[in-house]
Amino acid sequence: MKVCTSVSEFIKLRKAGSLGRIGFVPTMGALHIGHGSLIERSVKESDTTILSIYVNPTQFDNVDDLANYPDKNSADLELAESLNVDVVLMPTYEQLYPDHYRYSVDENKFSQQLCGAHRQGHFTGVLTVVMKLLNIVRPSSAYFGEKDQQQLRLIEGMVDSFFLDCQVIGCDTVRDDDGLALSSRNLNLTVEQRRKAPVFSKALTMLLNDDEVASSLSDDGFKVDYIQTIGNRRYGAVFLGQVRLIDNVELNGGLIKCGVNEVAQ
Ligand code: PAF
Repeated sequence: MKVCTSVSEFIKLRKAGSLGRIGFVPTMGALHIGHGSLIERSVKESDTTILSIYVNPTQFDNVDDLANYPDKNSADLELAESLNVDVVLMPTYEQLYPDHYRYSVDENKFSQQLCGAHRQGHFTGVLTVVMKLLNIVRPSSAYFGEKDQQQLRLIEGMVDSFFLDCQVIGCDTVRDDDGLALSSRNLNLTVEQRRKAPVFSKALTMLLNDDEVASSLSDDGFKVDYIQTIGNRRYGAVFLGQVRLIDNVELNGGLIKCGVNEVAQ
């Protein structure tokens, strides 16, 4: 496995031309089994799998959240190697943002809802860095988790709108046995918060309206950012202490489906 800490070194490698069909898994590190499932799918479907690890400051609306974002570079590299990643790209801010963020990619509709309504500028930061990474890596396919469903939909829209020659592949949310969606931020939960966290995923499946789900979560000690159903999907974001959890479940033809359990409506 090759580790590139320089964008220009990576571009040289790509231009050397022997990478074949490239599968790309962009991440912010602190890799978990959810990332592992994206990597495995890419390895299966591609000649070369490229993983990027970059904690993108432009998508954080809160300096403490950025400062506390878990960082486990050496464990990440071990996991990447064990899963047969070919190249890891670990760029710096100076390399990725030579323009100092003068240029950005905006979406002005769906990005304003759900997480976007609560995290100022978040999706502009995400879309901008993903656009940069896709242009650097030039993958045939890029893999994203369904847990970040709004992010996934916005990236699909960006790829279509800008005619990028890349297939965006959404992969199922991976959950712990108790139903909690895997997330790098789970590492910041205390033992007590971790014990309580799956109540959030289960609440999204409850046979209640969005307001009732929100007030049930508040009663259980969560600080609710939003619970909102759009189309056939219920989205939610809550805080346990300083840790923000997001999740979403599909409301499927009379059944609420989320991989935790299914209940008839
Ligand atoms: O989902 C993430 O980890 C990030 O938002 C991404 C897509 C790597 C962009 O920084």
